[in-house]
Amino acid sequence: MGDTIVSRSNVDLATILGPMTLRSPIVAASGTVGSVVDFAGAGDFSVYGAAVAKSVSSDPWPGRDTPRLASSGEGMLNAIGIQNPGIEAWAEQISPRIDTVAVPVWGSTVGHDAAGFAEVAAGLESAGVAAIEVNLSCPNLDDGHLFALDPTASAEVVDAVRSSTDLPIGAKLSPNVVDIVEIAASVQEAGADWVVLTNTVWGAGFDTKTRRPKLRAVVGGYSGAPMKAIAMRCVWEVAQALPQLPILGCGGVRSGDDVVEYLLAGASAVAVGTAHFAEPRIGRRIIKQLERYMTRNDINRVEELVGAAEPW
Ligand SMILES: Cc1cc2nc3c(=O)[nH]c(=O)nc-3n(C[C@H](O)[C@H](O)[C@H](O)COP(=O)(O)O)c2cc1C
Repeated sequence: MGDTIVSRSNVDLATILGPMTLRSPIVAASGTVGSVVDFAGAGDFSVYGAAVAKSVSSDPWPGRDTPRLASSGEGMLNAIGIQNPGIEAWAEQISPRIDTVAVPVWGSTVGHDAAGFAEVAAGLESAGVAAIEVNLSCPNLDDGHLFALDPTASAEVVDAVRSSTDLPIGAKLSPNVVDIVEIAASVQEAGADWVVLTNTVWGAGFDTKTRRPKLRAVVGGYSGAPMKAIAMRCVWEVAQALPQLPILGCGGVRSGDDVVEYLLAGASAVAVGTAHFAEPRIGRRIIKQLERYMTRNDINRVEELVGAAEPW
């Protein structure tokens, strides 16, 4: 696993996210590249700074009933419900192969309570992940519980995960809140090294022929291009209010320009999700576009762009 990306244009793509230096500002988002290890043949991880495996719970979760994926305008609705084999089976399958992929693999923990999140985090660390995302914001749990709506519940989970692992941890938040700064401040206080802004926004859709909801669960998570502006307001507000808290921007990224926008708003790195379904190797194109932007604008280091939006 090389530490630097060979950039044809000689720009420096490295960026600092809390305690980590990423060799590239793009990260493959959880749930869109399988376990990372399984996706290695289809994707091209050499241009990413990290890739996040799908969220895992302590016990196996079966996921929600189908249909659980649908298109809606330029975006995608999903209600997968974090189908996963549970941390024990996950670790058995993934751990022996985790060093074979050309990118640092991050795990993602999810659960029904703080103890469940913490148990998974310890299991992910033993399995050899480089960092852990705490998924406080999945909109598809059967009990409809979303920790990321409540600053106290979010802090309790992050606190428990912080006590169970020495790895860097990021808290993944929801855009479905009025005051994103309040939630971000509470997870920062509880020990999160960075925040991921954001998970999917709640959405729904109906088939005009059958008149049925597009998703069996009716309401699911909406992702893809239309999410960019929604997640961007979260990045901007948190970056303004909590300048010491590193941000991984996430939502609707499809191009190098999208990455630049998130960096200007205050993100230190940017995750790419739904775009992988249409174009599994999109990371390479995004990095080429980013390099071209930097070369044309005389920017040598990606870090020069972080929080560099100009005021009116
Ligand atoms: C099919 C699908 C499955 C997802 N599964 C997870 C997951 O397991 N854990 C998680 O934290 N986020 C999950 N997400 C959310 C993405 O990681 C990302 O936060 C969101 O889709 C917004 O980014 P995007 O517009 O680039 O897709 C999933 C998204 C999709 C579309």
